[in-house]
Amino acid sequence: NVLILDFGSQYTQLIARRVRELNIYCEIHPFNNPPKNLETFKAVILSGSPYSVRSENPPHPDLSLIRGHKPMLAVCYGAQYLAHFSGGLVGQSNTREYGRANLSYVKEEEPFFANIQMGSQVWMSHSDTIKELPTNGVRLASTHDVENAAYKIEGEQTYAIQFHPEVYHSTDGKQLLENFLVHIAGVAQTWTANSFVESTVADIQEKVGTDKVVLGLSGGVDSTVAAVLLHKAIGSNLHCIFVNNGLLRKNEFTEVLKQYEGMGLNVKGVDASSHFMTALAGLSDPEAKRKAIGNAFIEVFDKEANQIEDAKWLAQGTIYPDVIESVSVNGGPSATIKSHHNVGGLPDFMKLKIVEPLRMIFKDEVRRVGASMGIDKELLGRHPFPGPGLAIRILGDITPEKVSILQEVDAIFINGLKNSGLYNKVWQAGAILLPVNSVGVMGDERTYEKVVALRAVESTDGMTADWVNLPYEFLQKTSNDIINKVKGVNRVVYDISSKPPATIEWE
Ligand code: XMP
Repeated sequence: NVLILDFGSQYTQLIARRVRELNIYCEIHPFNNPPKNLETFKAVILSGSPYSVRSENPPHPDLSLIRGHKPMLAVCYGAQYLAHFSGGLVGQSNTREYGRANLSYVKEEEPFFANIQMGSQVWMSHSDTIKELPTNGVRLASTHDVENAAYKIEGEQTYAIQFHPEVYHSTDGKQLLENFLVHIAGVAQTWTANSFVESTVADIQEKVGTDKVVLGLSGGVDSTVAAVLLHKAIGSNLHCIFVNNGLLRKNEFTEVLKQYEGMGLNVKGVDASSHFMTALAGLSDPEAKRKAIGNAFIEVFDKEANQIEDAKWLAQGTIYPDVIESVSVNGGPSATIKSHHNVGGLPDFMKLKIVEPLRMIFKDEVRRVGASMGIDKELLGRHPFPGPGLAIRILGDITPEKVSILQEVDAIFINGLKNSGLYNKVWQAGAILLPVNSVGVMGDERTYEKVVALRAVESTDGMTADWVNLPYEFLQKTSNDIINKVKGVNRVVYDISSKPPATIEWE
């Protein structure tokens, strides 16, 4: 178990991912609110930070229970922090210390740098630099511009580096983390999907006992994996509710419901299409539509959940990035604030206790956990789909006709991607129905019909994205199929905007 103390670096999550990739469990905690059970952590990593140790009020953690007691690795700000407050000197750097650099000196026979060659590429990102090492500091590595790129403290298991081992561009970064965590700190590499399932199932059983748990299934990866885990733990005491808001993809409700039943889940499908359609009637403002859908969902879900007698718990598919984001927003050091636009949030009046079995793992780990429990590959590989569904892909007001036009278009596009082997190369794809008509000609007739836009993006987390260079032949065939087969559409365009400055969804 490894503790990462976060000083607000944009890379902190990446450190956690790299550590997990070594099959080592780790947790991120804000530097100003470290966990109470420090004794359970075998090693500590200090993250980088947007702050300078020379600024007026730099993050100043209390390391008295850590330093000298446990193996500690200080990265970037962490390294400067150690130097600045322990007898060294940190000053403004005279040369560029951003981006690529190469190790030009590595101390011989130093286990911290085992299997890392001179010349290895490292990634720097700082404007301060360590001019003098702290008391008992021993230089371990340098680059051309950064003399004290790495050091250790004699007599302690304390290591510090000014570059970022967690970023992809630090070629041997993972090896360095392995050297520190496995070979120096002696942390066991036992964190696997199977071990996660085993321990989580035991945790759930202990936590909820014989209580009933309610869970809203969305058809997405997170809620599905959460459901299967809970089902493994408590069987039919898990009551799943799958709401059809009428804004899902074509046939999705029936197909996914069948799949859930096939997996043995205790699931109730609730067709509330008309409820949502009524709630949306006449609304065209994107935020108003989101709100109406959110409220409608709560009404429907609340009514269903109330029918499950003595339900005590609400289970949610919250994953680690959501948790970290909300920790940051609630007083942590990081400056990023993501606007959460999930419709799944439920009001306090439901009075249920919350269980979130995935709250400590990342998306790719959720998939691995799902695969290890035998969940269908296709289900696990599904593109993300927004909670408000097609309502935010139909610009302007929603009518059942528009929904069914868009469902047809979307199905042709998505099936086309699947049939061409492109689906898994794309992070998310969908079609958008635009609120304009354009003139066309079919046969000898003039048409005046709708325009649809196709969107396909690559991304890792949806925070930034780029459009995908789909082959022209594919776009050509898809456009033809759509215009020939979907009545009411006479023009197809392809969205070539990145995020930022555009967003993935149009609304
Ligand atoms: P944007 O449009 O903000 O989308 O670039 C980023 C990712 O979030 C999804 N998205 C939503 N998901 N409720 C959701 O559950 C929403 O209201 C919502 N809006 C956008 C979007 O599909 C993409 O994956």
